[in-house]
Amino acid sequence: MPDFEIGESEFLLDGRPFRILSGALHYFRVHPGSWADRIEKARLMGLNTIETYVPWNAHSPRRGVFGTDGMLDLERFLRLVAEAGMYAIVRPGPYICAEWDNGGLPAWLFQQPGVGVRRNEPRFMAAIEEYLQQVLRIVRPLQIDQGGPVLLVQVENEYGAFGDDQAYLKSLVEIIRQAGIAVPLVTVDQPTAEMLEAGGLDGVLRTASFGSRSTERLRTLREHQPSGPLMCMEFWDGWFDHWGGPHHTTSVEETAAELDTLLASGASVNVYMFHGGTNFGLTSGANDKGSYRPTITSYDYDAPLDEAGNPTPKYEAFREVISRYAPVPPAVASSAAPAPEYSVPLGEPVRLLANPGSWGVWSDHEAMPTLDVLGARLALFRTDLDAEGPALLTVGEVRDRATVFLDGDPVGVLDRERQDRAIMLPRGSGRLEIVVEDQGRVNYGSRIGEPKGLIGPVQLGSAVLSNWSACVIDLDEVPRLWGSTTATGPGVGPIAWRGSFDVDEPTDHFLQTSGWGKGVAWVNGFCLGRYWRRGPQQTLFVPGPVVRAGANELVVLELDVLADPMARFVAGPSLGPVEL
Ligand code: GLA
Repeated sequence: MPDFEIGESEFLLDGRPFRILSGALHYFRVHPGSWADRIEKARLMGLNTIETYVPWNAHSPRRGVFGTDGMLDLERFLRLVAEAGMYAIVRPGPYICAEWDNGGLPAWLFQQPGVGVRRNEPRFMAAIEEYLQQVLRIVRPLQIDQGGPVLLVQVENEYGAFGDDQAYLKSLVEIIRQAGIAVPLVTVDQPTAEMLEAGGLDGVLRTASFGSRSTERLRTLREHQPSGPLMCMEFWDGWFDHWGGPHHTTSVEETAAELDTLLASGASVNVYMFHGGTNFGLTSGANDKGSYRPTITSYDYDAPLDEAGNPTPKYEAFREVISRYAPVPPAVASSAAPAPEYSVPLGEPVRLLANPGSWGVWSDHEAMPTLDVLGARLALFRTDLDAEGPALLTVGEVRDRATVFLDGDPVGVLDRERQDRAIMLPRGSGRLEIVVEDQGRVNYGSRIGEPKGLIGPVQLGSAVLSNWSACVIDLDEVPRLWGSTTATGPGVGPIAWRGSFDVDEPTDHFLQTSGWGKGVAWVNGFCLGRYWRRGPQQTLFVPGPVVRAGANELVVLELDVLADPMARFVAGPSLGPVEL
């Protein structure tokens, strides 16, 4: 069996120096029907390795559950990597950051008051042990010394940017080793002395994450990793976007020149991302450096392969740079033809406020519960008011967006990004309804694990409101609403619409969302993700394998207002204006 080790100054594969030329490709951000295509395109760019994170919260929506179907079939993904003749790096977290909801940590973890976050706290460690055992059961037989593709496993992720609990890192290493992982382990940190010290462990190879000033960064890494190969575990070749911000791109020439510098130094690399893919469903995370900024649905990342898996000029430039250092296969990666364009009328509107019972299940609560307690990402809260009006409605903190109705009439929106905490109601009496939306959990920094919903007391004047009814909206069920309820006609509040379109040949589609407000869309029950008129992205990617020859169903849940009930599929993506 092959053998992979860390040598004095290089990685050694069967005793011979081996340079890792890796590309990040997250199986959970790409439709499984396209995995083989994306892996092959990585090989054709000259890469020899595929790196992926593992998102704990996607595999374990509830404690004790570990799903591996469809887009979560890690074993199948790693086998496809092996079939392409490539190696693999697995980064199972438990924290992964990655612009992914909660950085991969399941929300249910934080239901236990006082549970530790990314430190050696018994309840946190017990949950991690359950999780890592399940993931590593898949990875163990796929290690290189067992005939599989896996060369390296990463411990935690940029831990030095968060904490300095060495006992936590040591416990993770113990769990990973006890689960039968024998390949070398690595950590990754941003290349500062403090972070490389706090986030690393002696005996575990330190690597760094950066996208510029490679020579200087590798020098810093060398000071903290005196022997062994140098590796940039995340060579940032692009960046991600927030709702309401610009679309980020990087210069092809500069990024390729930086890759050249890195490779000329002899270092190993993992290009982050080789292919970013999509935050399908409600999986995107958020940042909060004083202000909450949710991440968009596209994870195009301005990577060498675009969101739809087509090679970009950066792909060609990287291939050329790599060819200076390693053999690159002669075949050229293919691009898809422009996507079909047509309009689809939306009809049969079903309005949440007209009949919430057909959308979800009601429960009663003395005090306003969090979305976490309800296990909800979207919920309708109701209570009756009996005060002299007008009256001031206040909340501690809105996580993340609350749309307020009084007796069925819209009053306004409380938005976390604007730090909204109060709204004036025209009357202090009547039926108060609030639709509360979780827009994505923070994935970096100290707000990881925070609860969602209306946090702190909800007050009318000085009185804390009680006697709440909460209706949890199961978003997976939205495409099936028409089976149990009839159309209500347009009007106020969240509305689900549907339309049908015929396709000759199942290929990628791009759904234009710029004429709509804010919401979520599905094709054939597959959740494409969130859209929002703020942009920057103005299209949602519809992967070809989701589309069927013949009739297809499009469902749109509009939370705000959809002025024109018409869907348009367009020829290609529109990810919005870039920063000048
Ligand atoms: C860090 C993290 C990654 C990702 C990038 C930014 O390097 O380790 O998970 O969040 O930043 O894209």
